[in-house]
Amino acid sequence: MHSTTPVTNLQTRHNRATRLLHAGLALAIVTQLLTSLQMHGPDDVQAGDILFQVHRYSGLAATVLAFGLWVTILVRSRGTDLGALIPWFSGRRLAALGRDIKVHAEAGLKLRLPEHDPQAALPSAIHGLGLLLISAMAASGAIYFVQVALGLHSAEPDGMIAMTVHLALANLVWAYLIAHAGLALLHHLLQSMRLSTMWSFAR
Ligand code: HEM
Ligand code: HEM
Repeated sequence: MHSTTPVTNLQTRHNRATRLLHAGLALAIVTQLLTSLQMHGPDDVQAGDILFQVHRYSGLAATVLAFGLWVTILVRSRGTDLGALIPWFSGRRLAALGRDIKVHAEAGLKLRLPEHDPQAALPSAIHGLGLLLISAMAASGAIYFVQVALGLHSAEPDGMIAMTVHLALANLVWAYLIAHAGLALLHHLLQSMRLSTMWSFAR
């Protein structure tokens, strides 16, 4: 028998655009966090060192990728519903979230990881918060970039509203990345989910 269906053993509910944008965004964020550890940012006198330049331009790339991921989430026909990522405005979604928090809390008290359920409300709500957090970092960085480029402000971040937001949220990005990537890895090792559900470039 002849079949035209491509043979693939990849089982994923995430479409290819989601997986590609997620990978690009994750790499950009890791670059942002690593550069932020050692870079010397700009001040009134100088424009910042080479690590800051990497931070700047990979940050602008992250801004484009985050925007692309939001557009993909809005238009895709396969993947997590927007309402699952942002459940905060629906009574039905909030009720499901409450029930799922209970399931996670009960499992947590027994030091167990709840079964990986792609429809679960809590993980999706946290993924949505993570993406909002990254979007706020990207937007505040981009606003700073534009303000400096237009000459509306010196490159010194002190005293700028956008940078106050940027610096205040920075540690949450570490927390999100460590918790999110750590749980993904744990699920993979416990064989309750495969990393390739997100980390694959197959069609
Ligand atoms: C998603 C994208 C981004 C993430 C996750 C991110 C993350 C960070 C982190 C973790 C810090 C260090 C905060 C601290 O020291 O407490 C930082 C500082 C900074 N970022 Fe970003 N950033 C992003 C995008 C951008 C963009 C697009 C720009 C625009 C040029 C930018 C400009 C800056 C500046 C000026 C600082 C302060 C540098 C200094 O300490 O003088 N960031 N960012
Ligand atoms: C800060 C960087 C990251 C951000 C902003 C981020 C964001 C997201 C978001 C929004 C989703 C949900 C996508 C959807 O359902 O449509 C997701 C899923 C996922 N992420 Fe990340 N992610 C990041 C880094 C990582 C890293 C480093 C890993 C790997 C270790 C990872 C592994 C996964 C996996 C496996 C899923 C799928 C979970 C499932 O289908 O149940 N992510 N991520």
